[in-house]
Formats: sequence, structure tokens, C-alpha cells
Amino acid sequence: MTRVLTGIKPTGNIHLGNYVGAIRPALRRAETASESFFFMADIHALNQVQDPELYRKWTYSVAASWLCSGLDPEVSHFYRQSDIPEVFELATILTTITPKGWMNKAHAYKAALDKNREAGIDDDVDINMGLYTYPILMAADILIFDADIVPVGKDQIQHIEITRDIAERINNFYKTEALILPEHELQAAAQAMPGTDGRKMSKSYDNVVPLFASKKEWKTAIYSIVTDSSERHDPKTVDGAAVYDIYAALATEEQTAELRRALEAGELGWGDAKGELLKLLEDVLGESVERYNHYMTNTKELDEILQAGAAKVRPYARETIDRVREAVGI
Ligand code: TRP
Repeated sequence: MTRVLTGIKPTGNIHLGNYVGAIRPALRRAETASESFFFMADIHALNQVQDPELYRKWTYSVAASWLCSGLDPEVSHFYRQSDIPEVFELATILTTITPKGWMNKAHAYKAALDKNREAGIDDDVDINMGLYTYPILMAADILIFDADIVPVGKDQIQHIEITRDIAERINNFYKTEALILPEHELQAAAQAMPGTDGRKMSKSYDNVVPLFASKKEWKTAIYSIVTDSSERHDPKTVDGAAVYDIYAALATEEQTAELRRALEAGELGWGDAKGELLKLLEDVLGESVERYNHYMTNTKELDEILQAGAAKVRPYARETIDRVREAVGI
């Protein structure tokens, strides 16, 4: 029996990098797991997104993106973190045994601290307790459902290690087996998707190609992809070219090989390759865009799906909480 679990923090609209690096591999991984849990880590996002309108929109956007990327809520458990109060109950209990020093070492907090120090301002400026205790809430997300495998990008491995350490500490201290130690599983594609400027695709670099968008939005993003200055008839170096890499992440092997051949032979220019990429996006994602737009204008449907998902998983969460309460003496 393997239980796979992963969450996405709704801090923006989903882009191709999220799809290829997180959503698609998680859904593929779920095919060989006995159970899968996928959720919107909305309370995690609340540390960053403090605009209620945007916050709501992005939470829906992430939910619709999962659904339109192939998640079947009849097969995978699918819910919003904030609909599972047991997560917060567990998180509170976990704080009582987690050493403060472990939080000091967590990389997101350390990065914020380093930034303040470099700017020569007080250590604590703009650092809320949600950021500081982020790894504890994440541990609760994972431990509450006895997850065995957590598919994540490289930047999240430390959080899974902290989760294991916290679980082990509770188990050892209270001489219990109440919590299951999860393992991370690295989603290798996470690094492979470049953005329009050639750096890793990331909202914070402002270099993303949106996942579900209009043709016009796709076009604007795609035509801003940087290329070298070779002319159409020049033989091109495709390795390391962002247009090619983005194409390859979504196309079949045959399509990819053909694009490589045509670029290397000087039959296609970079502008042509961008046109091919646009066509590919329309082919692969075009139909899903309509469904995505439908969900985004009928968010009640999303609420219903998410609430049904929460109702289905809460009994599991309750069992874990009961075990932990029993172990600690509540
Ligand atoms: N911290 C993760 C990220 O920023 C999101 C997340 C929250 C998560 N809780 C989780 C991922 C639990 C996996 C399991 O990407």
C-alpha cells in the first residue's frame, strides 16, 4: 500500500513549469499508487497573498488547473487544506515538540532573514510567524494522512526531512507509532522547464508561459522567448534553447525529433519554432482551456467538488488526530 500526497500553494496562476514539474508527474505517480491525496495548500499561501480577491481567485485557479490536467476527484482525494481543521489541530500539537532551532534552519525563513541582513535592517522585518513555522504546518499536511510518498521539487526536500524528524520525535518521545515517516520523491522534471528568458520558469522571474490561457496570451508569452540571433537558414544549436525545451516538454518524441532536425538543418527559424510551439499548446491544451474557463466562471462547482473531497478525507484525518491525542495524553 502506498499513499501519495502532495500540495500546491496557490500564489499565482499555474504556468507550464508548474504543470510539467509538479502537476503532471504527480498525476502520473498516482497511477501506480494505491491512494493519492492532492490539495491546495491555501493556508500556506496566506503567508504571502494578503489580498482576499486574488487569494480566492488563485485558489480556484489551482483547483481548476488540477482538474483540467486530468485529476479525477473520483480516483484521487482532492481538497482544500483550509477545509480540514484536523490539519491545524495536529500542527498545534506538533509545535509543542518541535525545537525552535529546526525552524531557524528552514531555508525559506533563512532566505528572508539573509535578505534583511543584507539590507542592513532588523532581522524580523516582514517575517510573519506563518513563514517561521511553515515547515510545521507542512508536516501536519503530510502526517495527518499517513502519507508514504511525497512528490516534490528539489526546494521542498528539506521540508520533508523536517517532517520526518518531527514525526520521529513524537514517536520516540511518546513511545508510540502514531505517526508514519514519509519519504520524498524528487520530481526530476522540475528543473528542466526554462522560462521565456532562459532561466527556470518561475512567477518570481516574470518569465512564465501560462498553462490555461487565451491564444493571445500564449502568443505574447511565446514570442517573448529569447533566442540567439541566427537566421532562418542557419543551422541552429537547439540544446539549451528555451523554445525547444518548452516544446520538448509537451510534445511527443517524434514531434520533438522533427523540430530538432528542422532547426539543425536550417529549415526553420526561431520564429517558426515559436509558431510550432503555439500550435502545440493549442493542440494539447486547447480543449482544456474551455473547461478551465468554465470552472473559473462557475466557482460554485469547484466549491462543491472540494467540499465533497474534504468530507471524504476528514475521517482519515480524525483517526490520526485520535491516535496522537491518545499518545500525548489528551
Ligand atoms: N511547500 C510546498 C511548496 O511550496 C507546498 C506544500 C504545502 C506541500 N504542504 C505540502 C507539498 C505538503 C507537499 C506536501 O511547493
